[in-house]
Amino acid sequence: MASNLILTVTLNPALDKTYQVSRFAPGGVYHTEQQHTGAGGKGINVARVAKTLGAEVITTGFLGGQTGDYARHLLAQEGLNPDFEPCQQETRLCTAIVDPVSHTETKVNEPGPKIAPEEAARFLDRLRKLARQANFVTLSGRMPPGLPPDFYADCIEAVRESGAWVGLDTHGERIAATLQRGVFPDLLKPNAEELSEYAGHPILMFSDALPFTRAWRQAGCDSLITFGAQGALLHIAAGIWIGAPPVVQYKSAVGSGDAAFGAYVWALSQKMPFQESLQWAMGAGAANAETFGAALCDQSHIESLAQEVQMQAFQEA
Ligand SMILES: Nc1ncnc2c1ncn2[C@@H]1O[C@H](COP(=O)(O)OP(=O)(O)OP(=O)(O)O)[C@@H](O)[C@H]1O
Ligand SMILES: [Mg+2]
Repeated sequence: MASNLILTVTLNPALDKTYQVSRFAPGGVYHTEQQHTGAGGKGINVARVAKTLGAEVITTGFLGGQTGDYARHLLAQEGLNPDFEPCQQETRLCTAIVDPVSHTETKVNEPGPKIAPEEAARFLDRLRKLARQANFVTLSGRMPPGLPPDFYADCIEAVRESGAWVGLDTHGERIAATLQRGVFPDLLKPNAEELSEYAGHPILMFSDALPFTRAWRQAGCDSLITFGAQGALLHIAAGIWIGAPPVVQYKSAVGSGDAAFGAYVWALSQKMPFQESLQWAMGAGAANAETFGAALCDQSHIESLAQEVQMQAFQEA
């Protein structure tokens, strides 16, 4: 096993097109002032930040058609070592129109390719093989059409065969479908909204999360629950910690959770103490919030904000 290799899974990646158009309104014809094309997806963001911090990464999931080929090319150029399962249907194109005058962002996302059962089975074989090379595996985001709702449970079981650590960041319904099978990852990383969806009621404060993180802990699973600008809660075997983030010059927090997940896993791969891993995670989330675009923050920015994170042990009432 390569010692620090991090494998990130993005089941429904995208070719992301971002256009800058001033005074955009529906129905008009526009010429773009700036455009950017990138490979997108939550696991790709995780890999990007882990790599920024010095990790060796591999990205996997499904890629199909010409958009998929282009995304694979862009990932290779970025050094994110794409090793995706080919699928018959085309990888989705996601378009964002950013208007610097009205400060709005309009998004049009395709649903993504419908994955056939045999493609899903081939992906699990690929994941099994890749997990033998990696010590850490992350599973992030929503799923493309065609996959069963509990597909993350299959992924976790495939990774477990090699003994690699595995973390899962997805929305409430998919967490439920996974845990209902009695399959737990090593870490769950929902944000407060995703945990609310899982809980069936609003999770507004750190203490609201505890009934869930406690139950997961009893099943051997750690939790990193992120609450945006309010900070994050880490519940591990050794205890519960709360982190208060630094005040940031806010630009966009899209991808802050992915940045936090990437930095956390990188810190674990460096055998850092858990509290320090939480500091790095929150430093990356904050640096991402100060940067346009997802997971594009740099190493020194993450490091300086990580040092400003205030940690405290959570006192249970
Ligand atoms: N405005 C902010 N100021 C400071 N830190 C922030 C801010 N937004 C996010 N963070 C940091 O990043 C972490 C993750 O952010 P958040 O909870 O928004 O993730 P998320 O909702 O999963 O994001 P995404 O799914 O878009 O990646 C937070 O716990 C916090 O430490
Ligand atoms: Mg998230």
